[in-house]
Amino acid sequence: MRIPIVAGNWKMNKTVEEARSLAFELSRKLREIEGVEKVLCPPFPALLAVSALLQGTDIGLGAQNLHWEEKGAFTGEVAPNMVAEFCKYVIIGHSERRAYFGETDETVNKKVRAALVHDLTPIICVGESLDENESGRTGEVVRRQISLGLADVNPAKAAGLVIAYEPVWAIGTGRASSGENANAVLADHIRPALADLFGAETAQAIRIQYGGSVTGANAVEFFGQPEIDGALVGGASLKVDDFVAITQAAAK
Ligand code: PGA
Repeated sequence: MRIPIVAGNWKMNKTVEEARSLAFELSRKLREIEGVEKVLCPPFPALLAVSALLQGTDIGLGAQNLHWEEKGAFTGEVAPNMVAEFCKYVIIGHSERRAYFGETDETVNKKVRAALVHDLTPIICVGESLDENESGRTGEVVRRQISLGLADVNPAKAAGLVIAYEPVWAIGTGRASSGENANAVLADHIRPALADLFGAETAQAIRIQYGGSVTGANAVEFFGQPEIDGALVGGASLKVDDFVAITQAAAK
């Protein structure tokens, strides 16, 4: 059985002080919820403070990005071992990074492999744009993102990957996909693409989240679907009650 995983992507929000206070409020309520893996992903400057706060809880910490090189002259970048000092998880290939910062399936692939070397759990984002969706190319797009993004990943580590299916048109728009539609993309395209790479058994073990305008109100619809193993949450992860409700809805 796959244990559901709910991760909060705080994006570029919260100073260190604000992050500390949000993480404190969240941890008080989240620590009581069992049967779901819980992850907070604050911005880089807040990782140290939030990691101290989460010590001794079962709430994991994640970064929102990393660079694939080990060290060196890469101004402004953060190396995998620096992320691994504080974090167990790292979000890779979010559609905002693909759209605004030039990430490609190839850079996603380098980042995923670098993360695994450092025993980080990558949360790899895939998903189609509105245009791709409307022209019936959803399957083709997510299959390409999976096959190129996860090429040459060590099969022994593949079962530990987390995929986030996030249709770009649903992110931050308040226009979530339906549970049924999202489930169909996972069943028809994402899990089969994972099976092509790693075999059916490993593909069954890999957790696939849904992301895109998930709220406390619509979470149940997604988690009732057989293929959906949790959520990657943006806007609602900054609201304590909403994020707690989403986490509760995911708990098995
Ligand atoms: P949203 O963002 O929940 O605000 O739509 C999701 C994401 O970008 O991961």
